[in-house]
Amino acid sequence: MSSEQKELTQTPLLKIWVPWMSSSLSQRRGSSRPQFTNCPTMIVMVGLPARGKTYISKKLTRYLNWIGVPTQVFNLGQYRREVVQTYKNYEFFRPDNEEAMKIRRCLMLPIPQGREEGSSSVLQRRRATRQVFFIESICDDPEIIEANIMQVKLSSPDYENYDKEEALVDFLNRIDCYKMSYVSLDEEKDRHLSFIKIFNVGSRYLVNRVQDHIQSRIVYYLMNIHVTPRSIYLSRHGESELNLLGRIGGDSGLSSQGQKYARALSEFIRGQSIKDLKVWTSHMRRTIQTAEALGVPYEQWKALNEIDAGVCEEMTYEEIQATHPEEFALRDQDKYRYRYPKGESYEDLVHRLEPVIMELERQENVLVICHQAVMRCLLAYFLDKSADDLPYLKCPLHTVLKLTPLAYGCKVESFYLNIQAVNTHRDKPTNVNVARKPEEALRTVPEHL
Ligand code: F6P
Repeated sequence: MSSEQKELTQTPLLKIWVPWMSSSLSQRRGSSRPQFTNCPTMIVMVGLPARGKTYISKKLTRYLNWIGVPTQVFNLGQYRREVVQTYKNYEFFRPDNEEAMKIRRCLMLPIPQGREEGSSSVLQRRRATRQVFFIESICDDPEIIEANIMQVKLSSPDYENYDKEEALVDFLNRIDCYKMSYVSLDEEKDRHLSFIKIFNVGSRYLVNRVQDHIQSRIVYYLMNIHVTPRSIYLSRHGESELNLLGRIGGDSGLSSQGQKYARALSEFIRGQSIKDLKVWTSHMRRTIQTAEALGVPYEQWKALNEIDAGVCEEMTYEEIQATHPEEFALRDQDKYRYRYPKGESYEDLVHRLEPVIMELERQENVLVICHQAVMRCLLAYFLDKSADDLPYLKCPLHTVLKLTPLAYGCKVESFYLNIQAVNTHRDKPTNVNVARKPEEALRTVPEHL
């Protein structure tokens, strides 16, 4: 198949643009982490309508952004709606509708290339070295296709004025229009291309010519995700002895309020009647003591340990300000990238937690009993939060967050179990200058004993 033919027949509806990683505070301090790529990648989603292209692209984009690979989605369906403002019916998609084909060909121009037009020669050079990776989703199970249409397609702006039955019929006709010219990636003829073919929502895969680290991460991720309905419960440990004193880190046991929470959590979890619940903790006493109260087996993950505050471990924020005022200000300036001397940054934590996320993707119902910074990182992944927002996400003690993945996002329910605990959340102060006065640095420190 010629490349021109491929462009017209394969209807690549979605493209994901992956530039390269930027340098960061933690890297300047000597991170040994590999740079993902020096060369941007264009990921092209291929497949007939209602094959989960939007789902995969949104999820993959969220994952790549979370691991620090800046990624954007370009959705040709959205561009089509912007250009052709009123959708009448499936006839727009007939291959013999010349007027519509003209519009659709224009929409299929490689988007990031279009955006780069007229920009610097650095970008032009980058374009020359761009990698292209195709993800094709193939599905021949009519039940899966219909469920997908009912779940996400009928709420599309195209069908605002349709009733459900009419919309379903129209969408099935639309698929038939695409089928007239759709050509799948070919194992032999397309062997020079880099791609993964996903059959029936991951029951089988075909992977071809994986060229670099990013592509292998993408393939690994796609082979681990599933669509079985489930919920993930995130909770911090019960209040610890060091929490009471306003001291960060350490490995103390639960306070008496913390023990009460562990019992309340046990009751809450029983009340949820969760099928085959897995329970995970860190290696730290406070999470293990919390899990013990549940009276069920649990698995301990070192990767779930709280952020390592290095030389500041077991100090109060006031003591850090008194002994390391410059470090305290630098952390406020860029909390995500700031690495504690001899300790970790949030960015490090995200990388430490990647295997946890991968395993969460593979599992069904899981309760993760973890720590404030760790819970923020996990939550940011599921809620698609930016690196700037991540370190300030509110994860109070004695509160369970129930995350239920939906078609294109995640539902969050918050359950405060009504056991009082200290507040450990410190907001970003307005003055982050290294020359600020101590009272300005300490303005947002929560109260403690
Ligand atoms: O204060 C409790 C705690 O879990 C500490 O162990 C940890 O250093 C801190 O929270 C992380 O929160 P922040 O990044 O806001 O200091």
